[in-house]
Amino acid sequence: MTAKREVVISVKNLMKNFGPRRIINDVSLDIYEGETLVIMGGSGCGKSTFLRHLIGSIRPDSGEVWMFGQNIASISEDEMDLIRKRFGMLFQSGALFDSMTVGENIALPLKEHAKLDTTIINIIVKMKLEQVGLRGFENLMPSQLSGGMKKRVGLARAMVMDPKIVFYDEPTAGLDPVMTGVVDKLVIDLTKKLQITSVVVTHDMASVFRIADRIVMLHQGNIVAIGTPDEIRNTNNPLVRQFVSGSAEGPISFVQQGDDYLEHLTAEITE
Ligand SMILES: Nc1ncnc2c1ncn2[C@@H]1O[C@H](COP(=O)(O)OP(=O)(O)OP(=O)(O)O)[C@@H](O)[C@H]1O
Ligand SMILES: [Mg+2]
Repeated sequence: MTAKREVVISVKNLMKNFGPRRIINDVSLDIYEGETLVIMGGSGCGKSTFLRHLIGSIRPDSGEVWMFGQNIASISEDEMDLIRKRFGMLFQSGALFDSMTVGENIALPLKEHAKLDTTIINIIVKMKLEQVGLRGFENLMPSQLSGGMKKRVGLARAMVMDPKIVFYDEPTAGLDPVMTGVVDKLVIDLTKKLQITSVVVTHDMASVFRIADRIVMLHQGNIVAIGTPDEIRNTNNPLVRQFVSGSAEGPISFVQQGDDYLEHLTAEITE
């Protein structure tokens, strides 16, 4: 592959604090057309927050996020709505509306953003369900689905506008290894077949190595490693090695509070 790859998302010097805590710390990253980029890292390291900047649901304190020729960190809500039509999102929880059928859930972005006849919408919904292996399920309610089926309906909804980019937050969280494999395969197949750029947040290591063309590891709001699956597998970086091997011992601590423990305990006494 010698062809010059086109950058579809360019993040420049992104910074975000929540209160006194720095969550995203000067992150810069280019994402290329057609690649599946996986963002991994420990719980609370800022993965979902980073992703939410890429879909324009959070604004950074400073920095830029370029997509479709615009810096979405500083555009109006109306302009952002137009950009939203061009990408899909599969949320961490699946985020289906419980009061709507599977078909209505999938049709929602089409009804909001595209002026299409109901007959056409129904055909598109059926095609999307077929793509995720759920033909004939359009009249079921989300409560009648298993976790894996819900994720696949979420995936069908994320794809319904034929997006160029799809973002996924933990697409396999809570699924058994077989269903994880099924959802991973769908992500790979749809991404390659439809030439979509995929940005996937996950901490499931089996998924990471199955689906990634490139892997970014976040730690305390910083990119600490970036590379191909082979490069990440063979790195000497102790943070990455600990994460990949799932070891409790190493530089990654499970403690997330930044303040001094003694000061925290005695704060009320000294006030
Ligand atoms: N809206 C918010 N207001 C204040 N703090 C927030 C907000 N959203 C996230 N945080 C904090 O930012 C940090 C990063 O959260 P985030 O959800 O990005 O982590 P994550 O890497 O996705 O974790 P997980 O793997 O558990 O989903 C956490 O400490 C969290 O408490
Ligand atoms: Mg998260």
